[in-house]
Amino acid sequence: MEVRWIGVKSQRLGPPSSTVGLIFSLLLGLWSAQALEMSVGKIPTLEAVNGSTVILPCTYSSCIGIKDLYFNWQFNDNGTMQKVCESVIPSEGVEPHVDIYRERVEFVGKNHQNNISILLWNITFEDGGKYTCFGRNPKEKFKNHSAIFHLIVVDELRVVDNTLTIMIASAVGGAIALLMGFMLLKNFTLFVLAKLEEKNKECLVTSSGIDNTENGLSGTKADSKPTPKKK
Ligand SMILES: *[C@@H]1O[C@H](CO)[C@@H](O)[C@H](O)[C@H]1NC(C)=O
Ligand SMILES: *[C@@H]1O[C@H](CO)[C@@H](O)[C@H](O)[C@H]1NC(C)=O
Ligand SMILES: *[C@@H]1O[C@H](CO)[C@@H](O)[C@H](O)[C@H]1NC(C)=O
Ligand SMILES: *[C@@H]1O[C@H](CO)[C@@H](O)[C@H](O)[C@H]1NC(C)=O
Ligand SMILES: *[C@@H]1O[C@H](CO)[C@@H](O)[C@H](O)[C@H]1NC(C)=O
Repeated sequence: MEVRWIGVKSQRLGPPSSTVGLIFSLLLGLWSAQALEMSVGKIPTLEAVNGSTVILPCTYSSCIGIKDLYFNWQFNDNGTMQKVCESVIPSEGVEPHVDIYRERVEFVGKNHQNNISILLWNITFEDGGKYTCFGRNPKEKFKNHSAIFHLIVVDELRVVDNTLTIMIASAVGGAIALLMGFMLLKNFTLFVLAKLEEKNKECLVTSSGIDNTENGLSGTKADSKPTPKKK
């Protein structure tokens, strides 16, 4: 009932503005939900040895679907964006023809499940840097969307780091082992102490119990036994 009252009041105050606001926010919500999204995965960085072959991952998703989606890959070379490849995808699931402008690049995503990943063959140190996966869906009034993938080319997978991680791991492992040992020791001591205490208690209880029961039993027995005998 109170809610209705509030509603009536606000409507009285200004129904046109509130309705317009509501519609506007609804539209905004729909808009943001429908927007195209480019994704280069959860870990947008890759460290790879020169000479190896790497995949630059990218997928797109759109709630309203796509039609003639334009996409490209760009390489940021000292601030100037160089097109790596580009294409227009007529619709989902259709393998597009991709124009490639950089050597040792292959389009391997094939638009399978919105996959527009590319492969970089035999990478050199010049290949290291930021790659932008860019997409534009005409259904969305040509809004731009992109995601950046960072490729780091290294000479060798660093050994120093490995030893460091091993050292850290063993140190952590050692600490954990020490802690566990300490806990075990503590638990053991507590256990022994508890046992000792239990024994003491048992001794106390049993001794007192024996005393009591013996007295009581002997008393009752002494009382009961003679009674049948008496009877
Ligand atoms: C990587 O680069 C180093 C130094 O330039 C070179 O010696 C090595 O042969 C290269 N490795 C490959 C696999 O190309
Ligand atoms: C990018 O910068 C490096 C070092 O600053 C330079 O050697 C290289 O020539 C530059 N590349 C271009 C395309 O300007
Ligand atoms: C990559 O390197 C291998 C071995 O050097 C060579 O056989 C292959 O053709 C190269 N691939 C490309 C795409 O350059
Ligand atoms: C995209 O395609 C490549 C090559 O087939 C594959 O390695 C990769 O796992 C695919 N990515 C996704 C997210 O399906
Ligand atoms: C989208 O990107 C293109 C370049 O590909 C640029 O010309 C255009 O201004 C951008 N549009 C918006 C809305 O940022």
